[in-house]
Amino acid sequence: MNAANTLYAQRRAALARHIGPNGIAILPTAPEQQRNRDSDFLFRHDSYFYYLSGFTEPKAWLVITGDGKTTLFCQPKDLEREIWDGYRLGPDAAPEALGIDAAFSLADLDQRMPALLDGRDAVWYPFATHSRLESRIDGWLSGLRAKVRYGMLCPDQQRDLCSVLDEMRLIKDTHEQDVMRRACAISAGAHVRTMQRCAAMLRAGQEVREYHLDAELLHEFRQHGSQYPAYSSIVAAGANACVLHYRADAGRVQNGELVLIDAGCELDGYASDITRTFPANGVFSGPQKTLYELVLASQEAAIAATKAGARFTDPHDATVKVLAQGMLDVGLLDKNKVGGVDDVIEKRAYFPFYMHRTGHWLGMDVHDCGAYTEPSEIGQVSERCDALTGDLIKDRPARILRPGMVLTIEPGIYVRPAAGVPEQFHNIGIRIEDDAIVTESGCELISRDVPVSVAEIEALMR
Ligand code: GLY
Ligand code: MN
Ligand code: MN
Repeated sequence: MNAANTLYAQRRAALARHIGPNGIAILPTAPEQQRNRDSDFLFRHDSYFYYLSGFTEPKAWLVITGDGKTTLFCQPKDLEREIWDGYRLGPDAAPEALGIDAAFSLADLDQRMPALLDGRDAVWYPFATHSRLESRIDGWLSGLRAKVRYGMLCPDQQRDLCSVLDEMRLIKDTHEQDVMRRACAISAGAHVRTMQRCAAMLRAGQEVREYHLDAELLHEFRQHGSQYPAYSSIVAAGANACVLHYRADAGRVQNGELVLIDAGCELDGYASDITRTFPANGVFSGPQKTLYELVLASQEAAIAATKAGARFTDPHDATVKVLAQGMLDVGLLDKNKVGGVDDVIEKRAYFPFYMHRTGHWLGMDVHDCGAYTEPSEIGQVSERCDALTGDLIKDRPARILRPGMVLTIEPGIYVRPAAGVPEQFHNIGIRIEDDAIVTESGCELISRDVPVSVAEIEALMR
């Protein structure tokens, strides 16, 4: 078996141990999605499916039984369809190519499932992820139940396959970390290229639109073998940066404004997720620099708080502490109205300018799977009233970070014009986002091939 197949086989073996000798796991890949009329969106495999198989074709199902056997159902060879749509591995070649035990045509799925399910105690499948999956499985189970008088045995438990796979995917092995480092290096190169092009175009007197910068990102992603962006790139000029989910559109990039770019490529199934905010012309103005350095200081505090043994919420809390103090210092918040830093945190007075969390898991999915609460402390629930909404919040202990977890660290400040908000900061939106692998003693930032300090950004764009 080749090295990649060994990796997938090890993951399937770990899953088989988890579901027990009599369990069975059933997992389809992602459905193809129609874009309009007879055009589909570009196909992207299901992440769980890929994690266990490395197989990227559409229309495929994996069945893994607790005895460690793996069966694939996939598209059969079909010369005519392959002439139109491309190569198919096909069931005859699949066992050897993928290192699995058996493969059949997808057309055989319904006919073969009862025998695969017969005598199993629990059937595991991903809950609430694939539309109509439950009814498909119900159909197989009811078919099996109809035959119990002939000696067949129907599983009596249904379990969520995500709960097992999420925990496995949360810790990235060395292969995954390596792919993610490479994805980040490509994305960092794309940010560098785009910053430089932006300043150069403005200097040459050319009109710069957000889509010009989006095109630079895409060029660099594809030049280096990335299959596609890991998510819709955000390229936001000026005030557009205050729209958190803004997309690269047609906005004019003006001399003197900041540009916020949140973009990362996907490489071999793994996402990167980087944000940089830079002056379009290559030089920060005074107010821009003031807020930028505040966000950067808050990110540094978050980075220092990211290490094995810390809680997932520690980087966020560290960020908020720095931002809250900074907002008071620069006059975004008036201490006569909101009090000191502890009051700002307690009452969440910073929220109008910083309304998102400081990070998320990163992996195959940009907002990757994995529980954010600590599984070993799940029963420890405390209740409190939210300071802003008055809603009752149930707090559970946050996840304890462990080596191999990968997360983003992405503080920001977004200033919409409002009464009492100093005008010099109006319409400035800043986010700085890096990707970190948790280590024993701290974290490894894997996205820093693109600079982050004011001096380095200005030097790069000069
Ligand atoms: N790009 C999505 C995020 O930063 O979470
Ligand atoms: Mn991002
Ligand atoms: Mn992110």
